[in-house]
Amino acid sequence: MPIPHRKFDALIIGAGGAGLNASLRLASADLRVAVVSKVFPTRSHTVAAQGGVNAALANVLPDDWHWHMFDTVKGSDYLGDQDAIEYMCREAIPTVYELEHAGVPFSRLDTGKIYQRAFGGQSQNFGGDQAVRTCAAADRTGHAILHTLYQQNIRARTHFFDEYLAIDLIRDEEGCILGALVLAIETGELLVIEAKATLLATGGYGQVFRTTTNAFINTGDGMAMALRVGVPLQDMEFFQFHPTGVAGKGMLITEGARGEGGFLVNGDGERFMERYAPRALDLASRDVVARSMVTEIREGRGCGPQKDHVMLKLDHLGADVVHQRLPGISDICRVFLGIDPAKEAIPVFPTAHYAMGGIPTDRNARVVAPAKNGPEDVVEGLYAAGECACVSVHGANRLGGNSLLDILVFGRAAGTDILRYIEENPNHRDMSDSYLEPAMSRLQRWERTGEGTTVHEIKAELRKLMEDHCGVFRDKETMTIGVEKLKDLRSRVDDVRLKDHSKLFNTARIEALELDNLVDVGMSTLLSALYREESRGAHSRVDFPTRDDESWMKHSLYILEDDRMDFKPVRTKPLTVETFPPKARVY
Ligand code: FUM
Repeated sequence: MPIPHRKFDALIIGAGGAGLNASLRLASADLRVAVVSKVFPTRSHTVAAQGGVNAALANVLPDDWHWHMFDTVKGSDYLGDQDAIEYMCREAIPTVYELEHAGVPFSRLDTGKIYQRAFGGQSQNFGGDQAVRTCAAADRTGHAILHTLYQQNIRARTHFFDEYLAIDLIRDEEGCILGALVLAIETGELLVIEAKATLLATGGYGQVFRTTTNAFINTGDGMAMALRVGVPLQDMEFFQFHPTGVAGKGMLITEGARGEGGFLVNGDGERFMERYAPRALDLASRDVVARSMVTEIREGRGCGPQKDHVMLKLDHLGADVVHQRLPGISDICRVFLGIDPAKEAIPVFPTAHYAMGGIPTDRNARVVAPAKNGPEDVVEGLYAAGECACVSVHGANRLGGNSLLDILVFGRAAGTDILRYIEENPNHRDMSDSYLEPAMSRLQRWERTGEGTTVHEIKAELRKLMEDHCGVFRDKETMTIGVEKLKDLRSRVDDVRLKDHSKLFNTARIEALELDNLVDVGMSTLLSALYREESRGAHSRVDFPTRDDESWMKHSLYILEDDRMDFKPVRTKPLTVETFPPKARVY
């Protein structure tokens, strides 16, 4: 039976904050916009963002977007592109007001202004005292933002394809992207969505690690789709481990808990961050806090019978602060640990949280890739925004509160540039059945049930492998073994067994497709980490313990074909201000 086709002006894959801020801009301009989401849109992972979104509103203490920019460049360990960082920090202020006017129920100060809390790596006056920059809706900020954006999209008549999985992008022989082949999860029916412009906004891939804050849906689908049409992935070695995951389980305990005055202690009851970040203490940058925690544990100063975690103390803050400002984490502690964090300390350990790397884009969210006729070229018709993209505003380490900001600012930028692009390219390009062949053959790989190991077992193996071979601390030997194991695992994915043969249902095939995506992004992470022989931000090599600006002030690019690596320069020149030159990074 022929596969039905539907035509839209724009196709957006992913319904988190980046996708929905882009679609809102487009649908409000009366374009026909399709949003494809593998879960109901308000279940997208943005819903899990807790602590808040950064903007130099100065509602609590003096603040300035230039200070925000400085902190972000420093936080990135000087690998972030400074033009994009300037753009994001300047745009933060109108972006938050736009959200407020759209109906986001931010918490309020006594003055009636938006509530702001301190987060890690924030400073006043270019490295001075702690700043207070993170705008919050209690500790459910992502939930508040996502629901507001969804409601606004319904009002603007965005067309949602709920519970559809994107199989692959469709590309013509000139390399232009014409839309995507998608699959209805409930019925297994296929659909070709043709679009003049396609935005990948599929979020991260934290599911590649065993212990993670990320939802089951975060399987790197957009990143893997980009790889398969020849786009490299940038800076994949930089994966953030959030310091405060619930020990042994991985759920997020927001940095906002430390922003409200919480602090970490080791097994001797010491406030150990005094040793590692004498000024910023528990609000040092995330990479610094995560490494300090692991160091305490490795040196025998952990807590509990196995000495395998540290404790986050909030019990001095009072029940009012804990329950009113942090109701979500109070619930998490009650449900998963059976404790009230206003009375008892929380056992915590770093947990895989966020991909700094991703699909390379410019600051208009256009995907850029190495070109035949020059160092870099825009991929016609293709955009990416949010965690699946690498603009790069986070460089080697993202600051807390900058991810909600990234999705909103660059989701909106994508919408704006897609409007321009469609004005200049008002017609759909010709579609041919032959363009569908790569996507169809990908799907056919799992039309049989397979005889090998189950998807579930291979996925568990992959996640353990990544945790063991590409965790907080890394070295050549461990990663080399990891790459070999991952090559072996990859060779077994084609013959993966889809659950119980007699009860084969579409979801089994979908899990195989997601596993396939995870394996490719996992390989990009391990190989990029093996290549980068220095320590920078979240990438910490025990065999190369220092930052090496002379050799490594460059972005890595992983190319799927033959697992190749390439590199490109960092854009150190901002748009209107002076460059922040690299310095030793102390907190
Ligand atoms: O700790 C948090 O609330 C997480 C925020 C973020 O990753 O930006």
